[in-house]
Amino acid sequence: MSQERPRTTISVIKADIGSLAGHHVVHPDTMAAAAKVLAEAKSKGIIIDYYVTHVGDDLELIMTHRKGVDSPEVHEVAWNAFQEAAKVARELGLYAAGQDLLAEAFSGNVRGLGPSAAEMEIVERPSEPIIVFMADKTEPGAFNLPLFRVFADPFNTAGLVIDPKLHGGFKFEIYDVIEGRYVVLNAPEEMYDILALIGTPGRFVIRRIFRKSDDEIAAVVSVERLNLIAGRYVGKDDPVAIVRAQAGFPAVGEILEAFAFPHMVAGWMRGSHFGPLMPVSQRHARCTRFDGPPRLVALGFQVKNGRLIGPSDLFDDPAFDETRRLAQLIADYIRRHGPFMPHRLGPEEMEYTTLPEVLEKLKNRFKEAKLYEVKGPKVKTELLSSSRG
Ligand code: F6R
Ligand code: MG
Ligand code: MG
Repeated sequence: MSQERPRTTISVIKADIGSLAGHHVVHPDTMAAAAKVLAEAKSKGIIIDYYVTHVGDDLELIMTHRKGVDSPEVHEVAWNAFQEAAKVARELGLYAAGQDLLAEAFSGNVRGLGPSAAEMEIVERPSEPIIVFMADKTEPGAFNLPLFRVFADPFNTAGLVIDPKLHGGFKFEIYDVIEGRYVVLNAPEEMYDILALIGTPGRFVIRRIFRKSDDEIAAVVSVERLNLIAGRYVGKDDPVAIVRAQAGFPAVGEILEAFAFPHMVAGWMRGSHFGPLMPVSQRHARCTRFDGPPRLVALGFQVKNGRLIGPSDLFDDPAFDETRRLAQLIADYIRRHGPFMPHRLGPEEMEYTTLPEVLEKLKNRFKEAKLYEVKGPKVKTELLSSSRG
């Protein structure tokens, strides 16, 4: 009789608890404070293993354990780690200390309190390669385009055509973060429906991807939208994702291939601009030019009996130099638009920034101008007329 194999949960939980020289890079002392809390949790057996890192101003906790997703115990460890790190940030006078910790006290789950989480529970394969992606100065929907390409585009992922284990395709769980609902759609059959949704990445976000043949989880993305939680501008939601690789999932190289194109994402300066997503090494995970450009780090691990073996800094490779060069060119080009769309985000997204406060001042300066009779549906003008809640 085969013994039931233990399940391992990988939890990547992140928060911006303050940074050095503006919203630019996490201070090492705050990472050390967080690591101390995780070390204690490991010695108590709450988590099996951990790795603490950062991307730009985001402190990232990568943890493994046996407690499943949304474990209050593990989330409390993360919350305490962020609190301790924020305490150090305040002592050092770091910028925006405690920024993402929106609640006074922990209440069962970090989601909704400010931090973001991507978690998956798996039965480890004999060899379990995973990639943890962490981005700064962008939003969860930034993963829509590359994850679609990894799991549904045969021009990206050769295995979808060649490998019988991938040939059946994948299921996409897509969240509508505005309405708070989700839909599951199949690729390749419903590819065009998937694209009809995820082409609006500020609203429809790929949350999870499953292999269709056996429902094995393949990928998970954090989908929290901090602005919607806080009801005011508190930066972009700087997402994280976990993707399983090889032997029935896309190869590491097929997963990374989708990031060789520096596509345009929302975020960058003041969370208000489109810019190219630039894949970088850990060393270059610091947002400088115009608070960016938006950066992405990929760390490769093997998970063995809950242990995290690695990481390998996957974008620390000249094979991505041309992607970075193209990203710089795009940055130069789009920056020359200054405050104009389409560099600056459109009015709907700007609702969650500080622009409405500026426009509010102009509200009473407008005088009626009868240009023509409005016959059709009334044009939405909230941006100029409403006050924000
Ligand atoms: C974007 C971000 C930064 C800040 C910008 C202004 O997510 O964190 O681009 O929005 O540096 O910051 P404040 O308003 O704190 O001066
Ligand atoms: Mg920030
Ligand atoms: Mg950030």
